Amino acid sequence: MSVRLQTFMSKKFIFLFLIIYLSFSSIVVNSQERVRLGTPITESQLAEFDLIAEPDGTGLPDGSGTAKQGKSVYDINCAVCHGPDGEGTSGNTVIVGGDMQSEGPPLRTVGSYWPYASTVFDFIRRAMPATAPKSLTNEQVYQVTAYVLFMNGIISEDAELNARTLLSIEMPNAKGFIDRSNIHSN
Ligand code: HEC
Repeated sequence: MSVRLQTFMSKKFIFLFLIIYLSFSSIVVNSQERVRLGTPITESQLAEFDLIAEPDGTGLPDGSGTAKQGKSVYDINCAVCHGPDGEGTSGNTVIVGGDMQSEGPPLRTVGSYWPYASTVFDFIRRAMPATAPKSLTNEQVYQVTAYVLFMNGIISEDAELNARTLLSIEMPNAKGFIDRSNIHSN
């Protein structure tokens, strides 16, 4: 390679390098400008977002309701997907019935699967109605939870559901789970 060609090439390289460097550095600057990291979430916003109600009662809000009151909440907000009597409109929307003794794969309904009534409350408050989660008041969630439990034959129509009575409910499948939290595989 001649000396002239070498100089030409190295100039070309420097030029290319500069172009690449400049385009990359401008991308970095631009992306930094575009990143919007937002503002830190406050404790109360976080609590509203989390809404966790645990089987020991932690996180259950004030309020109460009966199945009688919950029927209209259910008819308006839930029946379209879960059917007028909880029979479901598709495989995973059945919330009433199920057979815990079946040898085949279990039908997971509130009555035949869920171990804690507080978790039913928690799930409905957090995730239902599926098209508008968290749109119900705590009072309405107590009422409609009572109605779902009533449809499953777990409580009576007039039983008042609140943070205290919810914990006293023994769900049919409460003992159907095996605690594997202490089993370690090697
Ligand atoms: C737009 C349809 C829709 C509406 C409205 C709706 N749900 Fe659901 N719901 C679903 C679907 C879909 C699932 C299954 C979710 C899954 O498997 O992850 C579900 C799951 C559930 C479950 C758990 C079922 C189980 O045994 O696993 C409960 C309980 C429940 N919904 C209650 C309600 C209540 C109460 C309302 C009214 C306040 C409501 N849903 C409104 C679609 C809906």
